[in-house]
Amino acid sequence: MTWNNILLEKEGPVAVLTINRPKVLNALNAETLSEIDAAMDELAADNTVRVLIITGAGEKAFVAGADIAFMSRLTPLEARNFSRLGQKVFSKIENLPKAVIAAVNGFALGGGCELAMACDIRVASEKAKFGQPEVGLGLIAGFGGTQRLTRLVNPGLAKEILFTADVYKAEDAARMGLVNHVLPAEELLSFCKEMASRIAARGPLAVAMTKEAVNNGLEMDLEKALAHEADLFGLVFTTADRREGIDAFLNKRKADFKAE
Ligand code: HXC
Repeated sequence: MTWNNILLEKEGPVAVLTINRPKVLNALNAETLSEIDAAMDELAADNTVRVLIITGAGEKAFVAGADIAFMSRLTPLEARNFSRLGQKVFSKIENLPKAVIAAVNGFALGGGCELAMACDIRVASEKAKFGQPEVGLGLIAGFGGTQRLTRLVNPGLAKEILFTADVYKAEDAARMGLVNHVLPAEELLSFCKEMASRIAARGPLAVAMTKEAVNNGLEMDLEKALAHEADLFGLVFTTADRREGIDAFLNKRKADFKAE
């Protein structure tokens, strides 16, 4: 598959998807979102890939938001469809049955912050900057920001971020719980790749089911969520990976998981 707006590289079990429009700080237009969508389908079907890293091309930006020039031409109905497209694609990332790490290398504003929030784990460079500047444009966040931010940080803090359109340094984002780790720019990708390799060595179906349990559980009350966890625990017992993992432990050897 050839892409115009993204790069998709695979290094063994780790795939790296780079949003590749550096001239506009990797802003997201409909074509870019559609390419991310197609890449998610490809990755979901590729059993050799176990972990995905998403990052931005160039020194400056992860993603500086939805493409404002593109949005300036939209009618209200087209704007609603654009919002829905982004929401659909970001939900696909959130539900990809593999771990997804956002390597936030620079500006993660608006749709860029929303993209990072749709990933499972966020790691930032010291140069990264986060924010939801939409209200400054007379818009609202439309790729899930009003919902995922309130789930990631407390609702009062989420409203402050959304209402003020303030831009936050990586350390502040980490303090708020938006980001797990902050690293010097030159160490960001190697740190993410090393974390990805550690995850890739674990039981892939177990990681996928853990992701499902966490994601679905967040939308349930505790009793239902615990029942869901127990169901998935039973399901994981049907896998060859479970037999391999336990056998490897009992025989003091390294497990060789096949995602089966
Ligand atoms: C289109 C963008 C862009 C964007 C930057 N560019 N962000 N183009 N959409 N979101 C373009 C600029 O127009 C410029 O093009 C080039 O990238 C470099 O950007 P500069 O502004 O010259 O860089 P700098 O002065 O360093 O400022 C960086 C910045 C600023 C602070 C990140 O670019 C900025 O504020 N960008 C917009 C951020 C934003 O408001 N994002 C939220 C969008 S709304 P030229 O041709 O001049 O070189 C959103 C809604 C999501 O995301 C939901 C939709 C449904």
